[in-house]
Amino acid sequence: MKILLTGAGGQLGRDVAAALAGVFEVHALDRARLDVSDRRQVSDTVFRMSPDWIVNCAAFTDVDRAERDQAAADAVNARAPGYLAEAAARAGAAILHVSTDYVFDGAKGAAYDENDSPNPLNVYGRTKLEGEERVLASGARACLLRTAWLYGRHGSNFVKAILEAARRGGPLRVVADQVGSPTLTTDLADAVHLLLRRPAFGLFHVANQGAASRYQQARAIVGERVEVIPISSAESGRPAPRPANSTLTSVRWEAAGFPSLRPWQEALAQFVESLG
Ligand SMILES: NC(=O)c1ccc[n+]([C@@H]2O[C@H](COP(=O)([O-])OP(=O)(O)OC[C@H]3O[C@@H](n4cnc5c(N)ncnc54)[C@H](OP(=O)(O)O)[C@@H]3O)[C@@H](O)[C@H]2O)c1
Repeated sequence: MKILLTGAGGQLGRDVAAALAGVFEVHALDRARLDVSDRRQVSDTVFRMSPDWIVNCAAFTDVDRAERDQAAADAVNARAPGYLAEAAARAGAAILHVSTDYVFDGAKGAAYDENDSPNPLNVYGRTKLEGEERVLASGARACLLRTAWLYGRHGSNFVKAILEAARRGGPLRVVADQVGSPTLTTDLADAVHLLLRRPAFGLFHVANQGAASRYQQARAIVGERVEVIPISSAESGRPAPRPANSTLTSVRWEAAGFPSLRPWQEALAQFVESLG
């Protein structure tokens, strides 16, 4: 099976490329090799390559910068998935598109499953939701995979930032009023692998199990070594509003017979240990 992987230079893209290598024929294209916001380039590449699947890990992921650069977020998160999906439909390929827990407003006060209605609070979430809608409207066989709070070995993420800040010395001030599903990129990459092997279509929530606030996650990262002080989102002064609780759960993933991802504490502990 031939896979065209976009956004292959990102933290998830790199781990998905590694998980699929040797199993499928993977053409992993980073931004320099395929700009997904260029409709013509997308169409030509998909036509030339004629993949069985397109796996889209490309995105504009800087949630705060998206507030002041809406055009860029819109091009990559909203329109580009539509270009990829329409090219997939023309080529007879299927598409797996990665989306986010930030499509939800967090007001439910409990974990969101695939039947819950999105209502994004920020530009990033709004553009990602529009990307989902464009993929679904394309007519391509599509799998939408919503995940959350990603961290892994590559690129920058919350876990690496906390470890780095802890090395410089505490105390750390971390928001305690945002709750979500911390998810290890290699666990998600394994889920992508399972999904492509099966395959399965439609909307799936896939994240490590359980819920944590950023404060709880930080405590789990640094243990007792460094003092962590809980603060509010208002005190953090970040420009983009974020949902108070965007924890994901799934009714479709397990119903389709896929194994749940392990609890977030287990994945995080193994990751931190692996960094030494
Ligand atoms: N990170 C999270 O916490 C999180 C949470 C929920 C869902 N997600 C979703 O998970 C997916 C993967 O995110 P990630 O954490 O791996 O993000 P990431 O590390 O920022 O990777 C995204 C990649 O997309 C690339 N990209 C940006 N614009 C592009 C374009 N026009 N054409 C081609 N590539 C482009 C980026 O390249 P440059 O670096 O050169 O810009 C980067 O390599 C995304 O769909 C994201 O929305 C992420």
